[in-house]
Amino acid sequence: MQTIGLVGGTGDLGRALAVHLCKKYKVKLGSRTISRAQAAVTEILQDKKGGSELRQNLLPVSNNEAVSDSELAFLTVPYESALETVKSLTTEFQRGQTLISCAAQVSKRGKEFFGESAVSLSKQIQDVVPQCEVATGFQTVPAVVLYKEATISSDVFIACNEEGTFRKVAEVVLTINGLRPLYVGTLEHAGQLESLTALLLNVGLRNRLKSPTFKIHSF
Ligand SMILES: NC(=O)c1ccc[n+]([C@@H]2O[C@H](COP(=O)([O-])OP(=O)(O)OC[C@H]3O[C@@H](n4cnc5c(N)ncnc54)[C@H](OP(=O)(O)O)[C@@H]3O)[C@@H](O)[C@H]2O)c1
Repeated sequence: MQTIGLVGGTGDLGRALAVHLCKKYKVKLGSRTISRAQAAVTEILQDKKGGSELRQNLLPVSNNEAVSDSELAFLTVPYESALETVKSLTTEFQRGQTLISCAAQVSKRGKEFFGESAVSLSKQIQDVVPQCEVATGFQTVPAVVLYKEATISSDVFIACNEEGTFRKVAEVVLTINGLRPLYVGTLEHAGQLESLTALLLNVGLRNRLKSPTFKIHSF
């Protein structure tokens, strides 16, 4: 069974991914503090009534172990700390490992949200860990809904440099009911994805839409 690591797995998105991914994978939920990882796992087990897959497959670990013991890792820490977090874990990443950055750049001025990433975070991360295949995705999937629901109808936009990396990420995305992985292109496009959340939050705010997401239609 493949192992997936969650760096910063104690937050909303990490917990939501953990609940779904442990149905198919061993999931190492990471934190800077092991006691926080343990508390998060205990809370998830209580909240979700501890199904056998959760009890067997969900493990609390340090962020270091979430990276060093996984074939594929999600980076689910705030945008502002994402690059520093990856830098602090550089030696833990292995050659060929896949790292998916979920960080979204959103700042708030008054009532409005802005997403202005001059240089995409994911491109900077790729430079720090050249041994890894870096992808970016999940920015437009609302974590609270993902945590609560068994199925979530949403598209997951993914940018990464190689189509082979996209296929690996897509395989994981497809294990979550209702999610559709869509390839955006290389990390040159990552900045667009990282700032899409601001657009989504403004649309939600201005039109009174709760937990908005993207679902592309074609004709
Ligand atoms: N929430 C959503 O709906 C959603 C959806 C899509 C994408 N995202 C993106 O996914 C990422 C995670 O979102 P979230 O809502 O789960 O975030 P969060 O709850 O604010 O943070 C997640 C975890 O990051 C760790 N963390 C916090 N500050 C840190 C720092 N300075 N350095 C290193 N680690 C730190 C904490 O874990 P420990 O204290 O246990 O280490 C925290 O539990 C964000 O970049 C967000 O933009 C969020």
